Amino acid sequence: MNELKIFSPATVANVSCGFDVLGFCLDSIGDEMIIRKTHKKGIFITKIEGYDLPLEAEKNVAGVSALALLADARPDCGFEIEIYKKIKPGSGVGSSSASAAGSVFAINELLGRPYNKTQLTYFAMKGEALASQSEHADNIAPALFGGFTLVKSVTPVVDVLEIPTPDKLYATIIHPQIEIKTSEARAILPKQIDLKDAITQWANVGSLIHGLHTNDYSLIHRSLHDAIVEPYRSKLIPLYNEVKAAAAESGALGSGISGSGPSVFSLCEGKETALKVEEAIKKVYQNTNIAFDTYVSKINAEGMKILNNNSF
Ligand code: HSE
Repeated sequence: MNELKIFSPATVANVSCGFDVLGFCLDSIGDEMIIRKTHKKGIFITKIEGYDLPLEAEKNVAGVSALALLADARPDCGFEIEIYKKIKPGSGVGSSSASAAGSVFAINELLGRPYNKTQLTYFAMKGEALASQSEHADNIAPALFGGFTLVKSVTPVVDVLEIPTPDKLYATIIHPQIEIKTSEARAILPKQIDLKDAITQWANVGSLIHGLHTNDYSLIHRSLHDAIVEPYRSKLIPLYNEVKAAAAESGALGSGISGSGPSVFSLCEGKETALKVEEAIKKVYQNTNIAFDTYVSKINAEGMKILNNNSF
């Protein structure tokens, strides 16, 4: 196998209460990438369509993660990367992670899978760090593993837990077309937090994980709250409270900021409710001059998908 085309999915990080540790994988939004073996050693990004991003490997998240893998694997070949970017950078649904995780996933396949998904998470984090100035894996892990993931640690070792996904769970996403840089959305967060907020937060993380394990939609609903990060970041998103209220009125289990925003996610029991929530949150932005996109997606249990492969 010399060439691989993959679908690299968008993801939702944090999931309200799980800042930097929880995430889930989407099905209907993602980038496509083609990775090709070359005789010449190194990483060569030959094409990027969709958005204006650097072609130099050292300045591109897909290139940086691929270079980290190559520094360890030392293969007798190099790789060309073509990126067909569909996920807008800075949209809050894991655009940089899709690129960072996609390149290492595909290169690993072309090398005969020397690494497991946890090791790939480590390499992809190096690319993610270029975009966000911080090594976290809450978008990368669900992109690589699929479903819901909890990143138990990133140092000294990467430890990712796969959390089961209740069958009827759907996500509705609204993406107001404003850009929020992850590095800036991180810079506004406090360095210290109140113990009472921490207690609320870890109770919600524990109960959300329990709800996901036991298909308890009511418990998932009661757990989707963020006492720590949302109060700071919600100010960056126009009409955030109105979107949340409209989603709740239409039956969403809960809503929150997707990653560092500006996208807002809602989790819903069943596709019908997810579509109802989509209609309701669209109305919030329809009478403003803010452009927006919406998506409804089943939770993607598989993560990365191989679209086709070629030997030549
Ligand atoms: N956990 C990260 C954050 C996700 O919220 O800053 C975005 O990279």
